Amino acid sequence: MISPSLLQLAHDQPAAIRAELLAGLTAPTAVIAPKYLYDALGSRLFAAITELPEYYPTRTEAAIFAEHQDSMAAALGPVQTLVDLGAGNCEKAARLFAALRVQRYVAVDISVDYLRDSLQHLQQQYREIEMLGIGVDFSSSLHLPAEAGAGPRTLFYPGSSIGNFTPAAALTFLRQAHAECRGGSLLIGVDLVKETDILEAAYDDPLGVTAAFNRNLLLNLNRLAGTNFDLADWRHVAFFNAPESRIEMHLEALDATTVRWAGGERRFAAAERIHTENSYKWRREDFAALLAAAGFSALRHWCDARGWFAVFAAHA
Ligand code: AVJ
Repeated sequence: MISPSLLQLAHDQPAAIRAELLAGLTAPTAVIAPKYLYDALGSRLFAAITELPEYYPTRTEAAIFAEHQDSMAAALGPVQTLVDLGAGNCEKAARLFAALRVQRYVAVDISVDYLRDSLQHLQQQYREIEMLGIGVDFSSSLHLPAEAGAGPRTLFYPGSSIGNFTPAAALTFLRQAHAECRGGSLLIGVDLVKETDILEAAYDDPLGVTAAFNRNLLLNLNRLAGTNFDLADWRHVAFFNAPESRIEMHLEALDATTVRWAGGERRFAAAERIHTENSYKWRREDFAALLAAAGFSALRHWCDARGWFAVFAAHA
C-alpha cells in the first residue's frame, strides 16, 4: 500500500486558543473567528448545509467545474503541483485530477487529522500522483513549507472560502497566495452578489441546519474556553449587509444573560449579539480587480447561467 506523507505544523496551544476566544467574547462587540465553527460536529453540519436546497454555492460551483474543466485545464496548463487550501475530504480536487493532469497533490487543512483518511483513500485510487497532507492554520497568514513543492504550484481555493476575509484581508491573503504560487497559477471559487432573498435563505434555511451550525459554536466555546453558554438562551441570526456586501452571522441573546468562566464573565443585554461569520459576496469585476491588485494576470473566469457563482483562473 502506498501511503501519502503527512506533515503537521505547530498548532496553537489550548491556553492561547482560550485567551483568543475570551478576548473576542469580552470585546465591546463580541466576536469569534469562523474557524471555530468547525469542530467535528460543526464540520458535519457544514457538510449537511451543502446538501440544502437553499445553499446554492457548493452545487453551483461543482456544476461550473464539471462543465468547464477542459477550458480551465487549457487556461492553467499541466499542473505540476496542485495545492488544495482547506482540502477537507479532498473531493473537489480529486474530481479535477484527470482534466488538470495533476502530478503532485498537496492537501492543506487546519489539522492533518482531517486529511489522513481521505488522502490515504485517494492515494490508492491515484497511485501515480504523489500526495502530501499538510496541517497548518492559514486563516491569518498563508505560508507554505518547502515540502509543498519546489517548482510552480497551482493553488486551489474553492468554495468561496475567500468570502470569510474582508476585502483588505482578502488582498493580503491573495498577495501571499501569489508568492506561494512560485510562478504557477490560482484556481479560486467566489460567490457573487445576487438578490437578498436568495442570499439570506442560503444562510437561514427553514430546516435550521445553518442555525445548528452557528449555535454549535457555543458548545465548542464551552469546551475550548470553559464558558457556560446555555444554547436555549441564543438564536441564530443571518442577514445580508448590503453596504458591506456580506452575509453576517450572529448569535443573539434572547434575554439578558451572563456567561461565566473561571476568572471572568460577560454580561449580554437582550438582543445583544456575538458576531460569528462574514461571508462576502463579490461582483465579478471587483474580484477581477482584486486578483490583479494581488499581482495575478491572464485572468479568466467561468460562471453558471444565473451568474450566481464564479470560478477564476489566473497566472502568478
Ligand atoms: C465555507 C465560508 C464558504 O460562507 O458560505 C455556510 C460557510 N456559513 N453557511 C460560506 C457557511 C454558513 C461558507 N464558507
